[in-house]
Amino acid sequence: MKRGVFISIEGPDGSGKSTQIKNIRQFFKDKGIDIIFTREPGGTPIGERIRSIILDRDCAEMDDMTEAMLYAAARAQHVAQVIRPALLAGKIVICDRFVDSSIAYQGYGRGLGEAVSGCLPDVTFLMKMDPRVGRRRINVQQQDRLEREKDDFHVRTYEGYLELEKKYPGRIVGIDAARSIEEIKIDIYKKLE
Ligand code: TMP
Repeated sequence: MKRGVFISIEGPDGSGKSTQIKNIRQFFKDKGIDIIFTREPGGTPIGERIRSIILDRDCAEMDDMTEAMLYAAARAQHVAQVIRPALLAGKIVICDRFVDSSIAYQGYGRGLGEAVSGCLPDVTFLMKMDPRVGRRRINVQQQDRLEREKDDFHVRTYEGYLELEKKYPGRIVGIDAARSIEEIKIDIYKKLE
């Protein structure tokens, strides 16, 4: 069905994902290859509005199922409006988080079980780092609603990611995120080549 390439990048909050996303974008820029870069939750005007509700610290009373459905709603819009059309047009799509985040954070972290979707990435970079270490890198004043969750939530979430890595060894590429930015970049570039 699809002709393009779909790459996602995943990992705990504070694992250095954003830095490596910059590198991935640079990799394609250096080669003169156009990509579509997008993120979850978000990536569409509707999705970005949903994002601001989900991450708002004032929404502390949000029910776990509401949270899961908001992520799923933002994703449905994103796949329909951006990702699927781009893949059908043969483009390379790079996505900052995708359905593995819902499986890890809502499925394992919140204990809601596994989410499903018919549209999976071809390659997913998983930034592997103890989530307690990652979170300590994020300024407490700047933590969003999810980042403010307790350590045991983030540990369950991370265990979810490790289970996914075992379950999808062909798709999920584990990256040791505790190393230097440069070492991580070299690993990612090798795979992108
Ligand atoms: P970000 O900080 O990487 O932009 O992601 C926003 C937060 O949303 C992050 O804490 C992970 C969380 N998240 C989920 O819990 N479920 C999801 O499906 C997605 C895409 C993100």
